[in-house]
Amino acid sequence: MHWRGWQTPALQALAIQLVAALIVYCSATFLLPFTTLAFSLGHAAMLQGALAALLSAWRRMPRWWLPIQLLFPLALLATLGMQLPPVLFLLGFVFLLALYWSTFRTQVPFYPSGPAVWRSVLAQLPAPAAPGTATPLRFIDIGSGLGGLVLSLAAARPDGRFTGIEVAPLPWLVARLRARITNSSACFVRGDYGALDFSRFDVIFAYLSPAAMPALWQKVQREMRPGTLLLSHEFLIPDQAPHITVLPDPQGPNLYGWRR
Ligand SMILES: C[S@@+](CC[C@H](N)C(=O)[O-])C[C@H]1O[C@@H](n2cnc3c(N)ncnc32)[C@H](O)[C@@H]1O
Repeated sequence: MHWRGWQTPALQALAIQLVAALIVYCSATFLLPFTTLAFSLGHAAMLQGALAALLSAWRRMPRWWLPIQLLFPLALLATLGMQLPPVLFLLGFVFLLALYWSTFRTQVPFYPSGPAVWRSVLAQLPAPAAPGTATPLRFIDIGSGLGGLVLSLAAARPDGRFTGIEVAPLPWLVARLRARITNSSACFVRGDYGALDFSRFDVIFAYLSPAAMPALWQKVQREMRPGTLLLSHEFLIPDQAPHITVLPDPQGPNLYGWRR
């Protein structure tokens, strides 16, 4: 499959910073000797940030990227000036990598839902069938984070099979340990939900991001069986009116549902 990661905003932003740094470096190396200008690292960082912001505007990146691009080189310089032990950077990098993993590609960061949402999801599940009369309810949280939703549903509905799939190693590991410690029947798989077969599930829950919804809807249309249910916390599918809208918490966003 063709890898489209380079088209994601975070990698575009990085590429733009590298181009801006190269332009500033070449200008400083080849043009400055012909002038009497004093040029410090601070000047270079400001120039690089301004150039990166301009290039980002030219590439029509979302507007909130512009201040990030503008300030990034200065923030980098200020952090280096603090002369922190290099091992702190390594630890910080490893922690953030394990927590966010491929957010730069998926554009879905880690952010947990809470008990009010879990109760609303529970209320949307089909009622338990009479014992021994039907296959158990199969539920999956695509991007299960720390596993709170799946663990609470597994405790409330022992008749069902509750699974979470999570791409980032640290949340997946935490969810797995929580299931083991609490002796839960919930199952946590590490992987990308894009590789799942959605036809294996009766209810699919997603708490993703606006960027993920169009591709999710295409997959749902291809794979989900008639009579099954897609739930999405906070994020709507473009141009698809939901069949279910509930407000789990007056302070928070809606839970939406689409029946197939
Ligand atoms: C907003 S959090 C929601 C966590 C959890 N569902 C909850 O309600 O607390 C989204 C999670 O989806 C994960 N994720 C993003 N893209 C994914 C993918 N393609 N496959 C599996 N997990 C993914 C992220 O790592 C993140 O932990």
